[in-house]
Amino acid sequence: MSLREKLDAVIDLRRVHEFEWLGMCFSEGLRFQGPAYTSSNFFLTEDAKVCNYVIKAKDEVIINYYGLHFNSNEWQRPNEFLPERFDISSPLYLTPSGMKRNPYSFTPFNGGRRGCIGQTFAEKNIKTVLCYMISYFDFEFADKDELKKPYPLLHLGQSKKVPIEVNVSNR
Ligand code: HEM
Repeated sequence: MSLREKLDAVIDLRRVHEFEWLGMCFSEGLRFQGPAYTSSNFFLTEDAKVCNYVIKAKDEVIINYYGLHFNSNEWQRPNEFLPERFDISSPLYLTPSGMKRNPYSFTPFNGGRRGCIGQTFAEKNIKTVLCYMISYFDFEFADKDELKKPYPLLHLGQSKKVPIEVNVSNR
């Protein structure tokens, strides 16, 4: 049953997490064009060794989410928008060498003590609004070749420099 057929059957906002395809699109959207490209600046309180790197106390560290989300060692075809990569039954779920992805390869909300406290709120809100939008409207790229354009382009914030024009009509 397609997402839209499910929504037609029952829009119960307490159940948005049951719409698996919506969840995969949500995750892939955050991987592909998440609002945060990097973390804020962190300072270590003591020396640490991370993989082969020695980081000294008071060194400044920034986590590059963008780099993690497009790491071609972890993601197959990283420059393509493929929600199936979050489907455990899809071959795209694995790394290019067929291994399980590193859990830190996807960190749109960061994690640990300084992780996003609005994560659940954001997730429920976005999914709820999307449910309504998909139920009431049809969406179509203004430019039929939109998906052939060379994305992603690195820019800070949600830039108006690369608009994606969409025609919206009542269902
Ligand atoms: C899709 C939506 C969102 C994304 C992708 C996101 C992502 C992030 C990320 C990556 C951080 C860590 C930033 C850093 O210090 O390096 C963060 C922190 C934070 N977020 Fe979000 N966020 C989202 C929505 C929200 C919402 C809706 C709220 C509040 C209602 C919120 C509140 C916060 C707060 C307060 C912090 C700072 C936590 C701390 O430093 O202790 N976020 N968010």
